[in-house]
Amino acid sequence: GESVAPPNAGFSFNSTFGTFDRASAQRGFQVYQQVCASCHAAHLLSYRNLQALGLTEAQVAAIASQVQIQDGPNDEGQMFERPGRPSDRFRSPFPNQQAARAANNGAYPPDLSVIVKARPDGANYLYGLLTGYEDPPAGFAMGEGMNYNRYFPGHQIAMARPLNPDQVEFADNTPATVENMARDVTTFLAWAAEPELEERRAMGIKIIGFLVILAGLAYAVKRKVWANAH
Ligand code: HEM
Repeated sequence: GESVAPPNAGFSFNSTFGTFDRASAQRGFQVYQQVCASCHAAHLLSYRNLQALGLTEAQVAAIASQVQIQDGPNDEGQMFERPGRPSDRFRSPFPNQQAARAANNGAYPPDLSVIVKARPDGANYLYGLLTGYEDPPAGFAMGEGMNYNRYFPGHQIAMARPLNPDQVEFADNTPATVENMARDVTTFLAWAAEPELEERRAMGIKIIGFLVILAGLAYAVKRKVWANAH
């Protein structure tokens, strides 16, 4: 369907030497956990990965222990539930795609692990999507149970507006506006999709530094070797 390019939301990690705003990503995990995780899985992430965002081991253990994870079979061949551990993958809200569709009027909430890389201009798109719910223009034919969104291709999305003001309460007193929550959860999911981004950039800077020094040495050697040539 028709798609509208999202505006540039100015994310720090989208600039050349940019990094992830850790405080924002941590708040974004909270938004993910308290809002998105009731419908969307992010099965590539483990709770212990959150330590890379600055959470302590104890905080991660506490977060993991709040979810019930399917495990088994035990010695009696039974499946059972147990509190999560840091090494567990993020708990999926549904056992399979069929169950996910059944709970969402037939629509499938995609896994969010790498969604920011899976969509063109993913971070700006996700921010636009989360803040882009509007009334449909006059005469726009809306399907039953669908929602109008400025940035979703075709403008009709099965996901109802997921973010509403004051839906979460941030420990650092950041106001839980739709824009702030959208920015934070986008930062979190951008990190999730590409946690090695900062290292990759740091490596690039080292490589460029090495090449500059190497070029300088090559030039110095060349001058020395050819110093007496006439
Ligand atoms: C689709 C993100 C909360 C149900 C999507 C998509 C994204 C997304 C990126 C895919 C859009 C695309 O295909 O380009 C989020 C985020 C959430 C959130 C970040 C939390 C802030 C929820 C919740 C529900 C839900 C709470 C269920 C009540 C769906 C469904 C779809 C969807 C059913 C498929 C829509 C379609 O294909 O028409 N969501 N979502 N989402 N989401 Fe969410």
